[in-house]
Amino acid sequence: MTFGGNLLIGASGSGGVAFLPMYLSALRAEFTGTVTVLMTHTATTFLPASTMALFADRVVTAVDPATWARANHVSLADEHDLFVVLPATANTLAAVAGGGAPNLLTTTVLEFPSPVVFFPAMSGLMWTKASVQRNVTQVRSDGHEVVEPADGPRYDVSLGRVVTGPTPPSPPQFVSKVVERLR
Ligand SMILES: Cc1cc2nc3c(=O)[nH]c(=O)nc-3n(C[C@H](O)[C@H](O)[C@H](O)COP(=O)(O)O)c2cc1C
Repeated sequence: MTFGGNLLIGASGSGGVAFLPMYLSALRAEFTGTVTVLMTHTATTFLPASTMALFADRVVTAVDPATWARANHVSLADEHDLFVVLPATANTLAAVAGGGAPNLLTTTVLEFPSPVVFFPAMSGLMWTKASVQRNVTQVRSDGHEVVEPADGPRYDVSLGRVVTGPTPPSPPQFVSKVVERLR
């Protein structure tokens, strides 16, 4: 069964953002709606917006002030039914936990009318740090969903090898979560 809607994907600067096109490919098999990808500046250093644009209907980076009239936190929140953040860095989770709005992604989280779904991506040591867990607890108690990364093997771009540790859901699991939320 296919499903539709207007999906906003926030992409923050985990090295794992390089895998985002695989998630969008999996989504396209079942999703007939529109996909906008909102990238932080760091995310665009790992994955060019031009590559992301091959998989999304629209890519927003907020770099060019000339785009701000059409692509800002208010218009993005108004135009989308669901906002998910994949991958979500420790930095982005910290900003959200503190109610901060240092960039367009986090400002849009504040503006979005319904709960946002975060898919954290970071090393095991980062994920288990008290400060990160404190932020996750805060983000959850503010009503958002933070999807627990499961332990598994993944290629770590920072180490250049496969490690076992917290891993964001697979593309099919991600699609299931989006379906569940948009249904
Ligand atoms: C090679 C490399 C890989 C990184 N991977 C991660 C990561 O997986 N998770 C994370 O939380 N931060 C990671 N970082 C650190 C973030 O890029 C950094 O905190 C950045 O400020 C995040 O900005 P953003 O949240 O605005 O995108 C990585 C940095 C480098 C240089």
